[in-house]
Order: sequence, then structure tokens, then C-alpha cells
Amino acid sequence: DWNPGNVVAEQVERIRAQVGGARVICGLSGGVDSSVAAALVQRAVGDQLTCVFVDHGLLRSGEAEQVEKDFVASTGVQLKVVDARERFLAALAGVSDPETKRKIIGREFIRVFEDAAREVVAEAGAHGESVEFLVQGTLYPDVVESGGGEGAANIKSHHNVGGLPDDLQFALVEPLRTLFKDEVRAVGLELGVPEAIVWRQPFPGPGLGIRIVGEVTAERLDTLRAADAIAREELTRAGLDREIWQCPVVLLADVRSVGVQGDGRTYGHPVVLRPVSSEDAMTADWTRLPYDVLQVISTRITNEVPEVNRVVLDVTSKPPGTIEWE
Ligand code: XMP
Repeated sequence: DWNPGNVVAEQVERIRAQVGGARVICGLSGGVDSSVAAALVQRAVGDQLTCVFVDHGLLRSGEAEQVEKDFVASTGVQLKVVDARERFLAALAGVSDPETKRKIIGREFIRVFEDAAREVVAEAGAHGESVEFLVQGTLYPDVVESGGGEGAANIKSHHNVGGLPDDLQFALVEPLRTLFKDEVRAVGLELGVPEAIVWRQPFPGPGLGIRIVGEVTAERLDTLRAADAIAREELTRAGLDREIWQCPVVLLADVRSVGVQGDGRTYGHPVVLRPVSSEDAMTADWTRLPYDVLQVISTRITNEVPEVNRVVLDVTSKPPGTIEWE
């Protein structure tokens, strides 16, 4: 007789006992885990919690607003937003290699987060308080995985907030450590976390930065965001969100092809739709989307996103193809 109300009550007690009167910091990514973990801690210790959201400019359309407006409105967390969009673009300028992009994004992310954390520590200090805890949205499967099992080979370096420097050592608060993903969603709904966040499909930490094949620029991000928003809207409209594990939209920025759009010949870019079905992302199959849904997505993208004149479908399973293109 598992129920989310009991989990909330139990975790609220635990968090209060652990944290006492100290201050707590939490990095929000816009994903399910960090959001639900933050909402739980907020429920337990209220304004002792400060959340930090680093806007790296690599999120999809509407996602920053979901955190900055909807999540704040529904949970009441104190949020510090860092607009790091220019910084990430500058750091990524001229870089096309996928692993290099990942490393740069991971590195910048940690640096920006550290700076923000130092500010939170300094502000607390000015009020005679100390920040002693860091919230992490670690789930039960993560605990098991890092408990020694070799798991899958680390084919791509997955970045998450990791080793902080010595002057920023916090004890961890991990209120989701005993929960599976579906339980985390139930707890999130119980806490009033917006459904768009609770049901968000997996989205990589490096975001759209690894969905632009080629250099990441502000214009290319806008193009990809527009195409991605259309694909997501139509998949939602068709009622397919729960059937699809995720559907990356990838901009082949270094590829051009000839098309006819409006009054004449264009020389634009393709986007790839990569709908996949999966249980755990370790293996995946390409989702057989209905042709009429594909057709609407294709027509809308090529009509509404002028830089894109071709929509192609990825029909590769994993393995051999990974889910993301980079
Ligand atoms: P791949 O492309 O390796 O992706 O088949 C498997 C799952 O992991 C997500 N992914 C990432 N998540 N940081 C993340 O937090 C990353 O660097 C990263 N790379 C891939 C991907 O979206 C898929 O769900």
C-alpha cells in the first residue's frame, strides 16, 4: 500500500531531522528528478532552501519558463536564475566535435553553478546563517548502479553536477533515493509540481547543444527550437507522448540540400526526427509513428521554419545507433 502522500510525509520528517536550521541549496535542471527533490525539500524546510537554475540557452522552447514561472508558482521555492546563455555560446563557438561540446557544457555548467552557490553562501553568511546541504535528485536505480555494478560501458560522458571544490562542500540531501521513476512522478503530482515537468520525457543535460550536428550558434538554436516545438506539439496532439520514450529532433546544420519553398529555390538544412521506444534507454527501437502524424509534422516544420527544407526520419534501432546523434 505504497502511496505518495505517505512518502511525502515521511520524507518531510527525515529532511527536517537532517537539515535542522541550516540552509540548503539545490540546482534545478528543469527535469523531473531535481524538480521533485526540490519540491520535497521546500515542503519540509520552506525558505531555508534556495534553488539555482542555470539557463544555458540549450533548453527547448518554453522549458526555462516552466521552471522560472510555473514551478516557482506551484511550489513557492526561492529561485535564483543565472542567465548564462551568452557564456555558453561563447564557450561553444567554433566547436563541432560531440565529446568536446559535452565537456565544455559540463565544465561551464559546474563553473556557473559554483559561482551561484558561492553567492548563496555569502548571502546566508551576511545573515549569520550557513549553507550546509545540497539537494540531489538521486533515484534508487542510480544508487544501485553506482553501488559497484559495472553497468553499460560509458560510451558517452553523461554530465551531472559532480565534484564541487573544497570551499563548497555540502552534505547531500537525497530525498528520492528509495524511489523509482514512476514513484517520483506520483510524488511530484502529490506536491503540485506542474504536469509538464512531472511527465517530461528524458532530455540530455547538454540539451540542444548535442542536437545540432556542427557548431552551436544562436541562430541554429532558434531554428532547432522552432522545429522541435512543432514536433512536440503534434506528438502531444496525437496523444503519443506516453508511447514514445523520447523524440529528439536533430538539426543537420552542416548539411544543406536544395528545396522549393514559397516563391523559389532554397538551400536549407534537414532536421531528423528520432522517435524511440525504450524501457531504460540502454536499448531502443524506432517508433512506428503514424504516417499522418509524420506528414503534419513535416509540413508544419517546412512551412513554419524557413531554414529547414527537409524532414527525415531516423529508422535505426539502438544498438547500433545511440538515441542521440552526438
Ligand atoms: P544515448 O544517446 O547514449 O542516450 O543512446 C541514452 C539516454 O541518455 C540521454 N543522454 C544524456 N543524458 N547527459 C544526460 O543527462 C548526457 O550527456 C546525455 N547524453 C544522452 C539521452 O537523451 C537518452 O535518454
